[in-house]
Amino acid sequence: MKKMPKPRKPDEEKYIFTEGIDYSQTGKASIWGKGDKDTLELIERTEIHGKWLNLAAGDWGYTPNLLKRADFVVASDIDGGALSKLRQNTPKRYVKKLETKIFDITKRFPFEHDEFDGIFCTGTLHLFPKEIFQKIVLEINRVLKPHGRIIIDFATDIKRVLPNGKLLTFGKEPLYTVEEAKQVLEKLFKDYEIKMYESKVPEYLIKTKPCYKFSSKFILLVADKK
Ligand SMILES: C[S@@+](CC[C@H](N)C(=O)[O-])C[C@H]1O[C@@H](n2cnc3c(N)ncnc32)[C@H](O)[C@@H]1O
Repeated sequence: MKKMPKPRKPDEEKYIFTEGIDYSQTGKASIWGKGDKDTLELIERTEIHGKWLNLAAGDWGYTPNLLKRADFVVASDIDGGALSKLRQNTPKRYVKKLETKIFDITKRFPFEHDEFDGIFCTGTLHLFPKEIFQKIVLEINRVLKPHGRIIIDFATDIKRVLPNGKLLTFGKEPLYTVEEAKQVLEKLFKDYEIKMYESKVPEYLIKTKPCYKFSSKFILLVADKK
């Protein structure tokens, strides 16, 4: 087994929302749970082909589900430990279709123009201030082929409850309501053909340090480039 990279410290001022944990000590299952039912169903029923980029995939991030449908998947994250765990837990039959890449989503992506048929990102984009999110969308647009597809989820009405009952927030995260998020997404993807679906994450325990109970609503967005 390859050595696990050192935990990546968070730095909220620089928009690095990592967990700062040693992923080799977190067991086989993803620290983010088993995935959301509506997202899993959306992946199954949506046309997915060619080369896909999974942004901020973490230690799983639906990557095997994407690998089942796509020809090739690049799973990326700023945390190399999360990606090592993701690779180690990827079913053998899919490993040859998988590349992992460490990079900061808020910087220029290390890919050519029009490189991907699809971009996928869950559980992450709601963390960034609007102007940073806008920058990320410009990069997504740059590396996505014409007629390419984006599938993202966007959390709203987030509640993170610490063991002492206090609420936890990260840096200057915007904390959107469903309506605010819809408006932002409609504006940012105005040149795309978009569909939005609403769903909920029932409360569950996230075993990071500190651990906390998480619940939210979220929007699933499918955006097709014209
Ligand atoms: C809430 S997790 C979501 C993981 C996965 N997408 C999922 O749905 O299970 C957020 C992920 O974003 C990554 N991340 C945080 N800041 C980042 C940045 N600036 N660039 C790239 N990845 C980042 C973290 O390391 C973490 O794996």
